[in-house]
Amino acid sequence: MQFHDRPLAPEALDQIFNEARSYNGWLDKDVTVAQIEAIHDLMKMGPTSANMQPARIVWVKSPDAKEKLAECVMEGNRQKVLTAPVTALIAYDIDFHEQLPWLFPHTDARSWFAGDEAAREEGAFRNSSLQGAYLMIAARALGLDCGPMSGFNADAVNAAFFADQPRHRINFICAVGYGDPASIFGRSPRPDFATFDSIV
Ligand SMILES: Cc1cc2nc3c(=O)[nH]c(=O)nc-3n(C[C@H](O)[C@H](O)[C@H](O)COP(=O)(O)O)c2cc1C
Repeated sequence: MQFHDRPLAPEALDQIFNEARSYNGWLDKDVTVAQIEAIHDLMKMGPTSANMQPARIVWVKSPDAKEKLAECVMEGNRQKVLTAPVTALIAYDIDFHEQLPWLFPHTDARSWFAGDEAAREEGAFRNSSLQGAYLMIAARALGLDCGPMSGFNADAVNAAFFADQPRHRINFICAVGYGDPASIFGRSPRPDFATFDSIV
């Protein structure tokens, strides 16, 4: 199926982009495991280099895990992770190439990365960042809100949540829930096309 020249309805674009905000506070409404899995099932379809899918995501949902995460974030983000229904820890696997034989079966993509950890770090960071963006788009498309955060101690998050996976490294974290409109300030300016873009 192709969707050429079939843009989404304006309301859908508003939900995903124009009206969507980064929330700092959350309504007291759960996000279910089924919703978390639905986010996963959409975001995994977003493109990554050689379908490398380097993101390894831990969804922090239990009170104990939230307390543990709160210890790792900046003061200003503490209440956010304690009150959010769930916070996704978007990490990446520096050894993602070991999965390429089944993720990209058309060719021997594993050999492109074996023995070159710097290239793996670059690819994993770039593509897990994209996957984090896909996560936010998917959550919004499903009627949820997001609160992305990079204000945390990466070593502390890695030690607290990825101690048994020393090849996984945190990229950023993202609260997911039903945003409290009272928790946000006015929309910050966005640039017109010509401010930063050009067509050559
Ligand atoms: C990767 C990333 C890291 C961010 N880190 C934080 C953070 O640590 N604390 C915070 O309050 N907001 C954080 N933000 C939220 C941004 O400030 C927010 O997305 C931006 O101002 C746009 O806001 P809007 O989506 O409501 O227009 C982060 C956003 C992104 C994408």
